[in-house]
Amino acid sequence: MKAAVRYNYCPPDGLTIRELPIPSIRSNEVLVKVKATTISRTDCGVLTGKPYAIRLFTGLFKPALPITGTDFSGVVVARGEQVEQYQVGDLVYGFFDQGLSTHAEYVAVPITKAILKKPEHITFEQAAASLEGAHYAYYFLDKLKLYAGDSVLVNGGTGAIGNAAIQFLKHKQARVVATCETAFVDYLYKQGVDYVIDYTQEDFTQFDEQFDAVFDAVGKSSFGKCKRLLKPIGVYVSSELGPNWQNPLLALAAPLMPGKKVRFPLPFSINKSMQYINELIEKGAFTPLIDRNYLLDDISEAFNYVMSGKKKGNVIIRFD
Ligand SMILES: NC(=O)c1ccc[n+]([C@@H]2O[C@H](COP(=O)([O-])OP(=O)(O)OC[C@H]3O[C@@H](n4cnc5c(N)ncnc54)[C@H](OP(=O)(O)O)[C@@H]3O)[C@@H](O)[C@H]2O)c1
Repeated sequence: MKAAVRYNYCPPDGLTIRELPIPSIRSNEVLVKVKATTISRTDCGVLTGKPYAIRLFTGLFKPALPITGTDFSGVVVARGEQVEQYQVGDLVYGFFDQGLSTHAEYVAVPITKAILKKPEHITFEQAAASLEGAHYAYYFLDKLKLYAGDSVLVNGGTGAIGNAAIQFLKHKQARVVATCETAFVDYLYKQGVDYVIDYTQEDFTQFDEQFDAVFDAVGKSSFGKCKRLLKPIGVYVSSELGPNWQNPLLALAAPLMPGKKVRFPLPFSINKSMQYINELIEKGAFTPLIDRNYLLDDISEAFNYVMSGKKKGNVIIRFD
C-alpha cells in the first residue's frame, strides 16, 4: 500500500510516499481501506513535533508512528476475532489526535479508539472532515456551560474549530457573532451567524456588545484584549496557549479570580465528542466546511497549505 512516511520529526518536505505492506490486524482491530483523511493543525503538530509538548504523546525524540495521519473514513475490509460491532463492508470513520497512521491506503484501527459507522447521508470526505476541528470545538464549548439564548463571540469563523463551534452554538440556540475575512461574510450569515465581523475591516475587540463568552478559535487574541467584550461573569476561552502559556496559567488561577475568567479545556475523551458530532450529523445540524482536496502523492503541498494558516475549514486527502 502507499503511505506517507517520515522517521524523524520534520517539515512537510521531509515526508515521502512509500510502498509498505498492508498492516496486519490484532484481535481487537479492524482493517480499514481508507477513502478520505484530512490534513489538520493536529497533523502538523504530529508531523513536526512542535509545539514540543506534543512529543509527550507522540514520541519524545522521534515519532512513535512513522506514518502520519490522525483521522479517516473508509470501508472495513477485515476484522479481528474479538470484533463484533463491525462487519466487513461497514462504512466507518474515526479519529485519534496522538496519531493513527491514516495517511495511507489501509489502516488498522483498534475498536477501543473513537470509531463509528459513517452516517449514510454524508460523503467519505465530509465524514473525515467532521472530526478534528469539531472534536476540539465540542470540548472548548463544553467548558462554557452555555444555555439557549446565551451570546458568544467566535474569533475565526472559517477555521476548522471555529466553524464547527458556530454550528454547535446555533444548534444550542445561542446568539453568535463571528469574525472572518470579506469573502466568507455571506457564507457565515447563511450558516445562521447573527452578526458577522469582517476582520479585515474592523477590530472585533472594539465591538460594542458584551457576551457570555468569547471563543478565540484561532488563538490570535488574548484575555486582556477581549475582557471588555465579556459580561461581568463572562468566560474567555482560546484554542491556543497564548503568549508565555498565559491561557492555561490564567485558567488555573480562575478559582481565585472574581468575575471574568479564562478557561482552558483539556480535550481528552474523543469517544464522547464523536458521539455528539455523530448525533448532530444525523440530525442535519452539522456539515463540515471543506476547502481543497489533494491526492496522497501531493501530501507535502497539502501540509504546507495547512501550515500557512489560510485553510478554510478542512483540507482533504482523497484516495481515488
Ligand atoms: N488546544 C488544542 O488542543 C488545539 C488543537 C488543534 C488546534 N489547535 C489550534 O487551534 C487553532 C485553530 O485551528 P484550526 O484548525 O481551526 O485553524 P485553521 O483552520 O488553520 O484556521 C485558519 C482559518 O482561520 C482564519 N483566520 C486566521 N487569522 C484570523 C484572524 N485574525 N481573524 C479571523 N480569522 C482568522 C483564516 O481565515 P483567513 O485566511 O481569511 O485569514 C482561516 O480560515 C490553531 O492555532 C491550532 O494550532 C489547538
